[in-house]
Amino acid sequence: MAPASALPDLPVDRPAGGPFDPPAGYAAMRDAEPVTRMRCPAGIDAWVVTRYDDVRAVLADRTLSSRGASSVHVKPELDPDEEVKPGSLIQLDGPDHARLRKMVLAEFTVRRVETLRASVKQLVDEHLDTMLAKGGPADLMQDFALPIPSLIICELLGVPYAEREQFQHHSGALLSTEGTPEDTNRAYDAIAAFLAELFAGKQQDPQDDLFSKLIVRGETTGDPLTLPELVLLGLNLLVAGHETTANMITLSTLALLDHPELRDPALADPQRAAEELLRYLSIVQFGVARYATEDVRIGERTVNAGEWLVAALSSANRDENWFPGADRLDFTREAPRTHVAFGYGAHQCIGQQLARVELQEALTGLFRRIPDLRLAVPQDSLQYKHNTLVYGVRELPVSWGSPA
Ligand code: HEM
Repeated sequence: MAPASALPDLPVDRPAGGPFDPPAGYAAMRDAEPVTRMRCPAGIDAWVVTRYDDVRAVLADRTLSSRGASSVHVKPELDPDEEVKPGSLIQLDGPDHARLRKMVLAEFTVRRVETLRASVKQLVDEHLDTMLAKGGPADLMQDFALPIPSLIICELLGVPYAEREQFQHHSGALLSTEGTPEDTNRAYDAIAAFLAELFAGKQQDPQDDLFSKLIVRGETTGDPLTLPELVLLGLNLLVAGHETTANMITLSTLALLDHPELRDPALADPQRAAEELLRYLSIVQFGVARYATEDVRIGERTVNAGEWLVAALSSANRDENWFPGADRLDFTREAPRTHVAFGYGAHQCIGQQLARVELQEALTGLFRRIPDLRLAVPQDSLQYKHNTLVYGVRELPVSWGSPA
């Protein structure tokens, strides 16, 4: 095996002027070296898997552990022998993972989430009312895209939205590849302390929300979650539940501003448009990591037990063998839901139906109510999130109506 320092870096730089395309290096890797060893941003070496079929094979393989999950990119000192903390849904494997996932799944089914659609729609309208009343320009991230998923996930979990400052800032730190291990620990401790206090209150006075249900079910099923388990599970849901969708809403808006010809088709079929935007933008930008617990064959390569892999979702979603004309945003594509933007297999995103409904309603409401929406700054002045696990635009200044 090559010494770590000799390995090329995982491509992270996006093509100049192409904020929607994944790093250019992936296309060549898919052709020539679809499973290749590289160095990830935090300094860990991993087999990077770039073709659609191979990515799905990795994510379906139960011998590959999720113990590193996304942290391969953010934790230089990652120790594969360290025991996964109980409650960390995204990192647990096998029966431990299945046990937790089963406890929360009912809140995220298509049927359950459809009952929330009217509330999402209402929130979209209320936020647009406020934006329109205030007059432009507005920052679409802070004024629209972040509060909607944040309010919904808070409501669903039973977290007072008024206390969002306590977790929104820290969840950004948890997803960053730039912070030190101390920054990550500090952010984790802050959210954990906030949740522990919240759970103590719910134990006394349970309500009709998911966190209360998790506490109460323990008393009736004989399989209670410990406080550390509850805290980590809560943290997984809370962090994943608002940041991802907010980035998806803003980046999708930008893509539709860039492609005005696609706005009417998006309004005509929001479901299809949302799926294609998920594929095209693939915001979990560095992909997801797995750890080989035994030797495994991926594509033409043998990955040895003890090695890391990265399933490059954004590359798989641009694989021409699956998505002809993959670099084009195309709302007429066949089988639009076959993308892997939500992952695949046992850990496939639990919040995907919620994210879909939020994205569909946000884009429909926005472009119906403000058909003349436009960028309030030159597009090349926008700042993108190149150093966080979830890609997006930092701020999206927009305006409408006659220029001031
Ligand atoms: C557009 C928005 C979203 C995207 C692109 C996204 C993407 C993903 C991906 C790629 C995974 C798989 C991780 C892996 O295999 O290691 C995942 C897992 C997960 N997502 Fe999402 N997600 C989004 C929204 C949400 C929302 C709204 C929630 C709300 C709770 C959520 C909660 C989770 C959780 C808890 C997991 C871990 C599931 C498990 O390990 O069993 N996500 N997400």
